[in-house]
Amino acid sequence: MNLRQEYPNYFLDIYGQVDFVPVRGVGSRLYDNNDQEVIDFAGGIAVNALGHAHPQMIAALTNQAQKLWHVSNIMVNQPAVELGKALVNASDFDKVFICNSGTEAVEAGLKLARRYSLVNFGAHKHKIVSFKNSFHGRTLFAVSAGGQSKYSADFAPLPEGIVHGEFNDLSSAEELIDENTAVVIVEVIQAEGGIIQASTEFLLKLRELCDKHQAILMFDEVQTGIGRTGKLFAYQHYLIQPDLISIAKALGGGFPIGAILVKEKFSSGFTIGSHGTTFGGNPLACAVALSVFYIINTSEVLSGVTQREQVFREQLDKLNQEFDLFAEIRGQGLLIGAALKPQYHGRAREIMNLGFAHGVALLNASPNVIRFTPSLIIPEEDIILGMNHFKTALHKFSKNVAA
Ligand SMILES: Cc1ncc(COP(=O)(O)O)c(C=O)c1O
Repeated sequence: MNLRQEYPNYFLDIYGQVDFVPVRGVGSRLYDNNDQEVIDFAGGIAVNALGHAHPQMIAALTNQAQKLWHVSNIMVNQPAVELGKALVNASDFDKVFICNSGTEAVEAGLKLARRYSLVNFGAHKHKIVSFKNSFHGRTLFAVSAGGQSKYSADFAPLPEGIVHGEFNDLSSAEELIDENTAVVIVEVIQAEGGIIQASTEFLLKLRELCDKHQAILMFDEVQTGIGRTGKLFAYQHYLIQPDLISIAKALGGGFPIGAILVKEKFSSGFTIGSHGTTFGGNPLACAVALSVFYIINTSEVLSGVTQREQVFREQLDKLNQEFDLFAEIRGQGLLIGAALKPQYHGRAREIMNLGFAHGVALLNASPNVIRFTPSLIIPEEDIILGMNHFKTALHKFSKNVAA
């Protein structure tokens, strides 16, 4: 059976997958049925933070699987309580809500903010300020909050009361954030949008304007959170604190889970019955996430992210000296973007496919940027090997360009 060929017979055609079909993974290496090896620089889109088949994650999952899988939120369970406690203790927040994905975390954050503002200030204070080129997930509310109309336009009519300012533009933020604003949602690094970092001045300005207008400042850390940038949360690189963050992806290391963390002051935004989920806080997901959290939240792993970033940057600079394809290498920690020069715009996906064909799993971030989101503990040897494969892919790309 050719799985890649079978797939479209049964599935809605919404992804455009690569040809490589992995059947197992070990650390930062994936293997197909024929034992063909691919070095994994994609990490399941910033999810497999500890690579594949990490022994402690396997132990956490299998131990929990012997005990209790699911009870729903009519009961509390031990892994959920331990995870909530660990997240609150390691952050500047006081309360947690656990759900199943990044989109759901965003949805929860925005709903909490709207309800908090409604209850405390009145229905007029419902405006959501977001930014162009941002990505916040795929529910109708999340695509409407996101700043890329290609994800939302076809699903109109969209939820009302959402406006989009210019990212990193202080005067645009000043113009939009006012006494009617309930929440300002922003990515510390616009990830899907092309690995574009928020400036310190911009985030400071957002903090100042939210304080002035009693609006909630929400950082969407779904992609940047849980060690990805070299700190547990990306906001910790700055001298400001948001009021609420959404996290997911690396939180479960491959098991679906998401969460919001919120300051005490705003936690009354949700009360009994105002929000909920059947699966959120599921013991299996929380047991795995807890094992991931304990490993990542150590100075060894977090400083290792920054060391690995340097190796990536050195290797990418070297490749660029040879091929002259990139205008810039950007990002932070192991969320790295190689931005293509203007003459190659639109061709990131082609390079991604060539990568897979030559033994390295890559991602794009927008049509113009190659994205690297590997395991946070990828061995240096695997980085070098993956870069050798990437070099072969770039060689082929350069030949295509010349042809
Ligand atoms: C910043 C950000 N928010 C939200 C999401 C949506 O997360 P999920 O795909 O888990 O629903 C993503 C996914 O890429 C993301 O990068």
